[in-house]
Amino acid sequence: KTGYVTLDTGFVNTGSCQSAITYIDGDAGILRYRGYPIEQLAQNSTFLETSYLLIYGELPTTEQLTAFDSSIRHHTLLHEDMKRFFDGFPRDAHPMPVLASAVNALSTFYQDNLNPTDPAGVDLTTIRLMAKLPTIAAYAYKKSIGQPFLYPDNSLGTVENFLRMTFGFPAEPYEVNETARAALDLLLILHADHEQNCSTSTVRTVGSAQANMFASIAAGINALSGPSHGGANQAVLEMLENIHRSSDDVDGFVKRVKNREEGVRLMGFGHRVYKNYDPRAALVKKMADDVLTKLGVSDPLLDIAMELEQHALSDDYFIERKLYPNVDFYTGLIYKALGFPNRMFTVLFALGRLPGWIAQWREMMQDPAFKISRPRQIYTGPGERDYVGVGNR
Ligand code: SDX
Repeated sequence: KTGYVTLDTGFVNTGSCQSAITYIDGDAGILRYRGYPIEQLAQNSTFLETSYLLIYGELPTTEQLTAFDSSIRHHTLLHEDMKRFFDGFPRDAHPMPVLASAVNALSTFYQDNLNPTDPAGVDLTTIRLMAKLPTIAAYAYKKSIGQPFLYPDNSLGTVENFLRMTFGFPAEPYEVNETARAALDLLLILHADHEQNCSTSTVRTVGSAQANMFASIAAGINALSGPSHGGANQAVLEMLENIHRSSDDVDGFVKRVKNREEGVRLMGFGHRVYKNYDPRAALVKKMADDVLTKLGVSDPLLDIAMELEQHALSDDYFIERKLYPNVDFYTGLIYKALGFPNRMFTVLFALGRLPGWIAQWREMMQDPAFKISRPRQIYTGPGERDYVGVGNR
């Protein structure tokens, strides 16, 4: 049943629910989407196929995947008025609030299909979000660098189209690099769902009030932007760059973390559920060296990251607290090698997590037992007291 109230660390921790989408065993470091181990999906699947699995519950047949792909390709375009929407933001706007605002604004263009209890409207909104989020993400990037938008090209698949809209340029042809496409496709699979994390719980909470899917996903994007959550991939790169730039070596930085200096945390480490190595981090670490080598990129930050990991994994402070690398620790190094600036990293996390948010929102809406989310509390304020006039305070 949804809405369990459990007392945990002294707070009323609600929102526990039943779900058939993703299984995590934090102690064993296990992650499965609809029962399929993440390692097998990483090895054999594609982001689109994994998205279908998460949203509809089964791996698609060839016909189903072709139809899903074709539907998405034919909804990638934004309404022309949506293009003007980006003009309202300052050039140096962070792309995450732009992404959240644009997704929320999408609901104003599709007012006939917003009813969360109408299966046809929910299916159409599912396709529209899967198709348009990459376009919005690419436009947010183009806006930030003052380059013209490129319209989507429906002859390309989701990931290629996104890379082309992001890095392509009207003045010259753009060829998608296969290494980059394969690397991004895999990273999107690894981010596709993660049971009831902060942003997914936010999507469920907003949706539980019968808010439409655009509004719920926009709320999830905002939750993801926090550095404790999806914003960590950008914070990891900034941490590595600071170590590289400063006289501080890895040992010195680790000492500052252990001394709990204000605001100094080992970003990309630790997890509320994984008290073992995050299986996604292991897969990303494995591919990092290979992708950077294939792209001909040599980045000293990768060596710093590996040294930092080695140091932490052998240090009692981190061992006692069961702090291991999480999915955000190595991903930024690959995103950077693909040409993305630090500020786009969390946008890429959102692109990957979208099918998971949609699947979780749909599951909740289809659950006859679900009710509006209404957490309770342990009241710690003053007992009853009488009003005192301002002259007597
Ligand atoms: C994601 O939930 C999900 O599934 C999220 C996610 C997903 O796919 O959706 O996996 C994606 O958000 C990954 C996490 C990305 N965030 C970071 O990398 C930021 C750095 N990590 C920390 O802020 C922290 O580890 C959290 C937020 C991830 C988890 O926090 P918890 O479980 O609440 O842990 P805590 O704050 O209670 O810490 C327990 C102890 C504390 O020490 P003590 O005060 O008990 O002595 O560990 C320490 C913390 O100070 N600690 C860290 C640390 N993380 C925890 N110390 C140094 N560096 C860190 N990163």
